[in-house]
Amino acid sequence: MDDRLLEPEQLRARVAEQLVRARERSTLLTEAVDDGDLVRQHSRLMSPLVWDLAHIGNQEELWLVRDVGGREPVRQDIDELYDAFQHARANRPALPLLSPLEARTYVREVRDKVFDVLDRSPLEGRRLVDQGFAFGMIVQHEQQHDETMLATHQLRIGAPVLHAPDPEPATRPDRREVFVPAGEFTMGTSTEPWALDNERPAFRTFVDAFYIDTVPVSNGDYLEFLDSGGYDQPRWWSAAGWAHRQEAGLVAPEFWELQGDTWFRRRFGNVEPVPLDEPVVHVCFHEAQAYATWAGKRLPTETEWEKAARFDPATGRSRRFPWGDEDPTPEHANLGQRHLRPAPVGSYPRGESPLGVRQLIGDVWEWLDSGFHPYPEFAAFPYREYSEVFFGGDYKMLRGGSFGTDASAVRGTFRNWDHPIRRQIFSGFRCARDATPAEAR
Ligand code: AVJ
Ligand code: FE
Repeated sequence: MDDRLLEPEQLRARVAEQLVRARERSTLLTEAVDDGDLVRQHSRLMSPLVWDLAHIGNQEELWLVRDVGGREPVRQDIDELYDAFQHARANRPALPLLSPLEARTYVREVRDKVFDVLDRSPLEGRRLVDQGFAFGMIVQHEQQHDETMLATHQLRIGAPVLHAPDPEPATRPDRREVFVPAGEFTMGTSTEPWALDNERPAFRTFVDAFYIDTVPVSNGDYLEFLDSGGYDQPRWWSAAGWAHRQEAGLVAPEFWELQGDTWFRRRFGNVEPVPLDEPVVHVCFHEAQAYATWAGKRLPTETEWEKAARFDPATGRSRRFPWGDEDPTPEHANLGQRHLRPAPVGSYPRGESPLGVRQLIGDVWEWLDSGFHPYPEFAAFPYREYSEVFFGGDYKMLRGGSFGTDASAVRGTFRNWDHPIRRQIFSGFRCARDATPAEAR
């Protein structure tokens, strides 16, 4: 949500509109399949869709009905079932979950109360509600689970049930690398009203000179690595990456299959030749890292990514988004499940950063060679389980969102993380490299 302070009535209208938009998406994703499909586990990595739906409602009840609203519980008996820390995803289908009908009724009851709370609660005076923060947190939470549900749809076997127009072809791809001179920039934020705890506070940090690619690695690029025997050569892989490649039997990105001598991929139930000009997606961190090594490059760090995305050398300040401070529009980035695939590399010239880097926001999440750590002076808010309990764990950072991420759930400072072996998420990458000492001076 935009930085500029809104009048309380404008803020309420903005919150209501975002709550409605998130719910439209959740409804579409859960009504696209029948009840059998909603309760089924499509992968041990994912929850049944009906769990996500009721979990969305339960988080909304906990924060907005009970905490902000101070109201009586809608259903206290189910808190434990929908607490993500109580039950691993693999075990969720065996729980006595709400049925699809009960879950739909539950989320509707909660939402009705939330609109009442929104009308009556002051949006100031308490940090949790200041500038609508708790509502923004819940909007983002629902949209995050909508992306998770989209990943579940991708894992589902069967005829296509989701439909969307394809993105336009890229007009002027502009594939190159840009030089980013050494210097400080401001990372993170202290002013973005709906930024989550791990994005805060803003701090100055020095970054050595580096090069970064203007576009993500495409399927065509990735095929060259594959065709050169990249999956069979341990020298391109880290020790952990090679061990995982062997154990998991990785031979290509997830959802790819060879038919004759052509690679096809399954995308939401459609089987189609792998499009060469699209960013590669459904690779794990180890595959991304192996490709970068093979290409004579490396993955960017999280700091480098954010500098490439936000730093404006003309003013010295950091922008909210690569293109400026305005919220994303369809001209800037491929977000919001408007398309069910990434756009060709080099798309969205209007989304370019001042340094000339494209598609940093939307299309594919970008793997980075950084673990998940707090910024200086981090303080957990409003609960430790969003970020703090994951710090220092076996995670790699992902930035920028994908075609499956809503605009409300990503920004230049937004931080995502996952295990380095995960690839059911909409993950790709771009490459960077060190500047030589002579260039860096
Ligand atoms: C920030 C995407 C890693 O989905 O695990 C959802 C977001 N936290 N419910 C996740 C989240 C609690 C989280 N990620
Ligand atoms: Fe959640």
